[in-house]
Amino acid sequence: MDSENNNNNSTKSYINTTIASKKFYTSQFSFTPLRFNTMRLLMIVVILTTAIFGTAKWTPRLSPIDPSLKGENAASATVPSGFETFFYNQTLDHFNYKPESYATFQQRYIINSKWWGGASNNAPIFAYLGAEGPIDGDVTILGFLTENAPRFKALVVYLEHRFYGESNPLGSKGGPDSVDAMEESVKNETIRGYFNSAQALADYAELLLHIKHKLHAHNSPIIVIGGSYGGMLASWFRLKYPHIALGALASSAPILYFDDITPQDGYYSIVTKDFEQASENCYSTIKQSWDEIDRVASMPNGLLTLSQKFKTCSPLNNSYELKDYLDSMYASAAQYNAPPSYPTARICQGIDGATNATDVLDRVFAGLAAYRPGRACYNMTSGVSQTSIGWQWQVCSEMSIPIGITSNVSMFPSSPYDANEYVDDCVKRFGVMPRPHWATTYYGGQDIRMILSRFGSNIIFSNGLRDPYSSGGVLEDISHNILAVKTTNGSHCLDILSSLESDPEWLVKQRKDEVKIINGWFRKYYRNLHFLKH
Ligand SMILES: *[C@@H]1O[C@H](CO)[C@@H](O)[C@H](O)[C@H]1NC(C)=O
Ligand SMILES: *[C@@H]1O[C@H](CO)[C@@H](O)[C@H](O)[C@H]1NC(C)=O
Ligand SMILES: *[C@@H]1O[C@H](CO)[C@@H](O)[C@H](O)[C@H]1NC(C)=O
Ligand SMILES: *[C@@H]1O[C@H](CO)[C@@H](O)[C@H](O)[C@H]1NC(C)=O
Ligand SMILES: *[C@@H]1O[C@H](CO)[C@@H](O)[C@H](O)[C@H]1NC(C)=O
Ligand SMILES: *[C@@H]1O[C@H](CO)[C@@H](O)[C@H](O)[C@H]1NC(C)=O
Ligand SMILES: *[C@@H]1O[C@H](CO)[C@@H](O)[C@H](O)[C@H]1NC(C)=O
Repeated sequence: MDSENNNNNSTKSYINTTIASKKFYTSQFSFTPLRFNTMRLLMIVVILTTAIFGTAKWTPRLSPIDPSLKGENAASATVPSGFETFFYNQTLDHFNYKPESYATFQQRYIINSKWWGGASNNAPIFAYLGAEGPIDGDVTILGFLTENAPRFKALVVYLEHRFYGESNPLGSKGGPDSVDAMEESVKNETIRGYFNSAQALADYAELLLHIKHKLHAHNSPIIVIGGSYGGMLASWFRLKYPHIALGALASSAPILYFDDITPQDGYYSIVTKDFEQASENCYSTIKQSWDEIDRVASMPNGLLTLSQKFKTCSPLNNSYELKDYLDSMYASAAQYNAPPSYPTARICQGIDGATNATDVLDRVFAGLAAYRPGRACYNMTSGVSQTSIGWQWQVCSEMSIPIGITSNVSMFPSSPYDANEYVDDCVKRFGVMPRPHWATTYYGGQDIRMILSRFGSNIIFSNGLRDPYSSGGVLEDISHNILAVKTTNGSHCLDILSSLESDPEWLVKQRKDEVKIINGWFRKYYRNLHFLKH
């Protein structure tokens, strides 16, 4: 796989790329308003940033929408009318009583009360738990809350995750999408110590109680909703704060992709399967292309040839830049493989349609051009965003998701997960050792069926099985009220995105099933409330 002549360079720059610019690290939460419609079609959030070719495989970003679809550092979305933005003086450190723990920061949240049935009716609250990016983009793309609020007369609330958007303890220097405050935060050894999921969940607990208190809505049941990393937060919130959330909808939440619970091959084996299902020829063309890229790269002027073939915006410095770019493209196409456009099919139509091209790389380029049509050149240099920077810190502290490739059945070259490399990389970057076992220590995950069938209730784990992250999801019912709602052909976070006229029946049904389950939780809650209060 390595071409000798550029190996040193590429390893180094691979690290830069992976960390600074992989798609998985790129925020998809902030899009330019113009792109909203497109984004909506494509959907979702995840975390994907895996670079296979350099050193370690990096963790794909989790996010409901494909970050590659938006411009880097795009201006923040404007919050649509009907939504009101508020700030809460949030406690910096929920778990200590040292003088500095009492410091506060402004946490942003957005409310729409248009449909709310009011405190006197104990009308419910739908709370979206923000994840690794600014919250404002979510308001427009996540249809699940606003589309279902009218029938439940629900208050709709979106809570921003600490450190992202306008909820950075160091303030939002240069605006909500600026990376300055985030860059400063992850370098500051004191402040970044408060940048973790437990503090974020505690923020949500305190803030939701504050909102209920303000509205005198003491008996209004809360349903927490999240996607991807936010979906993990939603399920964990229900387990840790059952007195605050009646239930959780955890969409595409890979809560089992920690430690060794899910085989490292899980993610890329689904990417491979998606392409194989789209077209056998497409799959084998891609599979052959990696060696071919290396072969061409090792020839005199090989990198120039590749740069021209793939119309790169600037000349390739090594073959990893190209391979990482293609790797991320296939991964996001699979992850965000939403109807009606089905990106994996588009890539494969390009590859299969290049019937005149005898060269493997020309066919791969035809796939790229079909997926991202009309570009004068292809920019293989990743930019940085709040998400790329912030998620990197989260990955290097507690969100350690081991993804690798060991199987030769994969359409990608072998690239086993290397725990040592991951640790070295994090130490180099932040000067700290990651704690890869903390997530399962604190939230569980091992023997989940046995544990959660005896403890916990009211969680929906929704997944689309074509989403590579579904490999780390909960795919079977755990009990009568911890339920898996899955679709064979669904992709990442599809169910919580805004619905479209063109949505296939299986997607419409998935959403209906979820609403029915939530309705059941409410019915029982209101029955209990009635008996207890009378
Ligand atoms: C929140 O904090 C700001 C700045 O520290 C302060 O001016 C404001 O009064 C606080 N608001 C509340 C409701 O405590
Ligand atoms: C880190 O952030 C804290 C809190 O804002 C600040 O007081 C401190 O000076 C910062 N440290 C550095 C090294 O910038
Ligand atoms: C090659 O390196 C230069 C300088 O670091 C960089 O500007 C350029 O974007 C790189 N090329 C690619 C394709 O990433
Ligand atoms: C394939 O070749 C034919 C005849 O040379 C040409 O008309 C057609 O446009 C080519 N197709 C592609 C996809 O390049
Ligand atoms: C490519 O993307 C990088 C990072 O977003 C950006 O800095 C650079 O200007 C872009 N290059 C071109 C030619 O668009
Ligand atoms: C893949 O690996 C298996 C087991 O190691 C081996 O038997 C098989 O020949 C390999 N297939 C290819 C195509 O390399
Ligand atoms: C999923 O898609 C495949 C082909 O893309 C189709 O044959 C199959 O019927 C679909 N399955 C469902 C449950 O819709």
